[in-house]
Amino acid sequence: MNAAMSFHDTVRARRSYRGFKPDPVPESIIRAVLEDAALAPSNCNTQPWNVHIVSGAKRDQLSAALLKAAAAGQLSPDYSWDDDAFFGAYDDRRRAQGKAYYSSLGITREDREGRAQAGALNLSFFGAPHAAFLFNSVVGDSVRVAGDLGMYGQTFLLSLASHGLGGVPQTVLGFYADTVREVLGISSDLKLLYGISFGFPKLDAPANRDRMPREPVEATVTIHG
Ligand SMILES: Cc1cc2nc3c(=O)[nH]c(=O)nc-3n(C[C@H](O)[C@H](O)[C@H](O)COP(=O)(O)O)c2cc1C
Repeated sequence: MNAAMSFHDTVRARRSYRGFKPDPVPESIIRAVLEDAALAPSNCNTQPWNVHIVSGAKRDQLSAALLKAAAAGQLSPDYSWDDDAFFGAYDDRRRAQGKAYYSSLGITREDREGRAQAGALNLSFFGAPHAAFLFNSVVGDSVRVAGDLGMYGQTFLLSLASHGLGGVPQTVLGFYADTVREVLGISSDLKLLYGISFGFPKLDAPANRDRMPREPVEATVTIHG
């Protein structure tokens, strides 16, 4: 743990890692990350997150079940996803991210099989020894709740960074909500928004080579007055 890390450094140390060392994170550190994440703000302090962490044999069992569900085409997302819904600059940035990921692994645009295999790495948690699953109860249209879960996830990720750890938030894990509920014995009243694979990042992994760029502040912010 690097207690002396400034906020400036912590926020820049966080990035989405897609390659991890197999070494498990000590339980006391996972506990500290969860204590930090619980301090995330939420609408009216409702704290609507319900988080499940997998490690060890359970992690392996769940990964195997996810890969099996994917091979059988058994998708069961609680929340919709539509690639075609993205437009303009959002679509451009989405495509640039995909291109950066596949090309870091030496996979070309035409290589459909290679792309499928690289996508499936999501389901083996990119080699991470742990994964967190962020569920919520249904509250109205759950848009406010989803915002709260985003706050939780970012606090979790920044805490990981402050402890010298890394993670990657994964909507893809939410595409198999029934599988996750079944393996972990979770009620269907809880809906899965996304997961976060985490551990000690493997800094020299090819997929960890590039840092995704950001737009200049002026492109996304208007200051009035
Ligand atoms: C809610 C959410 C879901 C995401 N889902 C995935 C995913 O399923 N698989 C993946 O590889 N990356 C996923 N990402 C990571 C994004 O691609 C990444 O945050 C973005 O490219 C910016 O890069 P950075 O996190 O390294 O700054 C997700 C990010 C967020 C915030």
